[in-house]
Amino acid sequence: MSGRTTSGGSCFRGSCARRDTTSGVFHFRGSWARRRTTSGGSSLGGGKRQRPGPAMAAVPDPEPTLEVGSDPLADPDVEALPRSGFRCRLCQVSAANRPSLAEHLRGKKHRRLRSLRAERRAQEQRSLFVSGFARGTSGEELAEYFGAYGDVAAVVMDKEKGAYAIVELRDAAGRERALAETQHDLAGHRLRVRPREQKAFAYGPPGRSPRREPLGPERLEPALWQVADVDAQMSELVRLLELSEDERRVRHLLVTLFQEVFTEFFPGCSVVPFGSSVNGFDIHGCDLDLFLDLEPTKSLQASTRDAPGAGSGAEDSILSDIDLAATPAPEVLELVAAVLRRCVPGVRRVRAVPTARRPVVKFCHKQSGLAGDISVDNRLALLNTRFLQLCAEADERVRPLVYAVRLWAKQQGLAGNPSGGGPLLNNYALTLLVLFFLQTRSPPVLPTVARLRDLAGDDDRVVVGGWDCSFPRDAASLEPSTNTESPCSLLAEFFRVFGDFDFTGQVISLREGRALPLPPPPAPEAGEELKLGPLNLQDPFELNHNVAANVNEKTASRFGRCCRDAAKYCRSLQYRRKSSKGRAWGLTRLFQPGAVEPGAAGAGAFVISIPLDVAGEPQRLCREPGGRGPWFREVCAAIAFVLRDVLKCDCAAGKVLSAPSEESELPRNSALSQEPDAEDSSTAEPLSVGSKRRLAEETNGAALPDGKKPRTNVPEDTANWSCAVWHRVWTGRRRVRRQLRHGDEPEGSDGDSLELEQKVSEAVVRQEGAGRPLEPLLRFEAGARVAGTRRETRVLLRLVPSPTPPGPLFRDFFHFLQSFLPAAVQQRLGQGPAGDPDPRDGGGGGVFSTS
Ligand code: UTP
Repeated sequence: MSGRTTSGGSCFRGSCARRDTTSGVFHFRGSWARRRTTSGGSSLGGGKRQRPGPAMAAVPDPEPTLEVGSDPLADPDVEALPRSGFRCRLCQVSAANRPSLAEHLRGKKHRRLRSLRAERRAQEQRSLFVSGFARGTSGEELAEYFGAYGDVAAVVMDKEKGAYAIVELRDAAGRERALAETQHDLAGHRLRVRPREQKAFAYGPPGRSPRREPLGPERLEPALWQVADVDAQMSELVRLLELSEDERRVRHLLVTLFQEVFTEFFPGCSVVPFGSSVNGFDIHGCDLDLFLDLEPTKSLQASTRDAPGAGSGAEDSILSDIDLAATPAPEVLELVAAVLRRCVPGVRRVRAVPTARRPVVKFCHKQSGLAGDISVDNRLALLNTRFLQLCAEADERVRPLVYAVRLWAKQQGLAGNPSGGGPLLNNYALTLLVLFFLQTRSPPVLPTVARLRDLAGDDDRVVVGGWDCSFPRDAASLEPSTNTESPCSLLAEFFRVFGDFDFTGQVISLREGRALPLPPPPAPEAGEELKLGPLNLQDPFELNHNVAANVNEKTASRFGRCCRDAAKYCRSLQYRRKSSKGRAWGLTRLFQPGAVEPGAAGAGAFVISIPLDVAGEPQRLCREPGGRGPWFREVCAAIAFVLRDVLKCDCAAGKVLSAPSEESELPRNSALSQEPDAEDSSTAEPLSVGSKRRLAEETNGAALPDGKKPRTNVPEDTANWSCAVWHRVWTGRRRVRRQLRHGDEPEGSDGDSLELEQKVSEAVVRQEGAGRPLEPLLRFEAGARVAGTRRETRVLLRLVPSPTPPGPLFRDFFHFLQSFLPAAVQQRLGQGPAGDPDPRDGGGGGVFSTS
């Protein structure tokens, strides 16, 4: 056979796809193929932002303006930056010095935004959040009902689910009257009426992508510090992280656009969002997961085939060449990818991933900045998304708890890998873990899935892929929980429960609401058996699917250890009591990256864990009480080498750490100030160098010599350093590394990789130009100590930035150091990299390639 042929095209309603059987490429013609090249698309294709209307411009600024000559730093919107700069959080503008800051604060833009924010706040204070009404209730009906309490200015319905509405009254007194009413009933449904949540005012400059990066802890912290207690921090966290109405609208528009385009090629199909966009656990910038339901298209094709000319609607849709039902899944996926690539305006970086457990087509949308997945075979996900929605709506503590656990796990590097690969827990698994925990409280906060099945009405009964997915769709039909635990206590309990949990020896069952012994009983529906591993979390519906099957032993045991650390911290006053001295308290410390160091010395510190291979070394280690013999000195020398020689930091030895200790100032007889219970000996960590507590109190003795007493004073060896960072040696390393490796450097990739890293730093410093600045960019104190057990030894390097709390620059540096330092120290010690080489670097990049 020679020559090129085309076959298997899909060609509907004037738009046509045809596959070249030689190249496997789809060719398009027709209206949508043209539209991609000729039109900018819908408003998502790059429309202009609307200017604020006259109503906004007319609003007086009720916020006090700073007097001329007053301290601009007194303005709550202003934050000081390192090196005497300032930033206006409201306008997202930086100023180099005080005069330019003062000028900005007097300027038009700042005043306009203050006025806009004041208007939004006033609007929020006149508005009600209403839920519990019957499906299909209209805005007019709600306006009429709330009209009894005062003039209604507007009703905004939740378009996606119809589950809630915002009712804005003309004056705040009307809202107060409605809130004072003990019971609201509309058409036989009990309404839930509460004040509208006060959202943080966020300004997006015109022309910028509406995508907002997930808020980093450095931007969350100031807001979380201000509120009164941990419960308020948790609600604030949800408000700060969840999608805004604008972001939801963008997603809705994008789904509409996809629906329009796909309908051209697959008549009858539907595009349905699932996952975090709609399950109640959304955060800024979360993925857009879509299910493309092709079943109606297949039925339409079948009916056209069975009854040619019978007027099925296929005559104008040219359902000709391709039989979707008979096409192998990878080809259908390729076809979807080709439609996306060629016909949807603004879509970029399309990639089919046929080998995933649920094959998907990945894409990015340029104007919205959203990344997403389209799957064609994942109907179960629609059901488990509805289940998550139900849980989110069933009790108001569910969302704050899930958001807090998700951010904590992300910060500890335990969860949230967006690509779905790797050994970390995915967000779905983590959410299920929280829901399971809530099922097991006494009394339960959430019902088990089995109980939900009993409560399901006839309309709720559904079986997907052989799995019973019946549960009530409406949260209003559930009995409210009688559990009265606060979100703050529930979070502490979550860590306590999973800190002591036997993940390997049992299966977490949301269906039963309890942990089942191994092996679990085979589900009646199951074909394949549940794949067991170090963490066994059974899907609530697809009972032979372990949603944590990708989690490896290391992650599972780190999860337990991080939970224990967090539980210990949650028992301290620092967790429960707001700091009067502006220090990290409550959630803010829990969200600091790296391990949470419980106990007095950890406040404000950033910890980097350096795992060390001590195979053959334990004997040597045992002879080094407190880790201060030659072995520990070698590790310290390696740390100093990396900081000083590789990263070009100043590193002066010997200063003793002076981390602020809030706990040590608390009264010892208070119940909350008591030291956490003694930990399971297998997890206890030996004493830090320079700490005042005795090693024997904390260690299982693995590192202790027979009968020898540990020394407890300031270290005689160099375990502490005062450091200064002069250059941004953490930025652009990857590019420079590539240039050095593949460019004109004769030694190429064959050289010693630490030597290469030294050269990378030198090149970065050279690129910055202008020699050494007058002041360092960052200063911090660092202290090393040995931790871990006989089986697993680590050195913990604690960084205490100055000033505290540190700015975003320090956090960037810390994030970099967190991955760079452990690998570099291991190399220096001749232990080789601990992690896998990063394939993104084109091979050979080793553990440094991600930085
Ligand atoms: P994710 O883990 O991506 O969760 O799974 P998410 O809540 O959407 O979080 P983001 O996207 O990381 O922000 C997406 C959806 O895929 C389905 C679930 O419906 C989940 O909500 N899913 C995921 C499964 O059905 N099974 C799985 O094992 C994983």
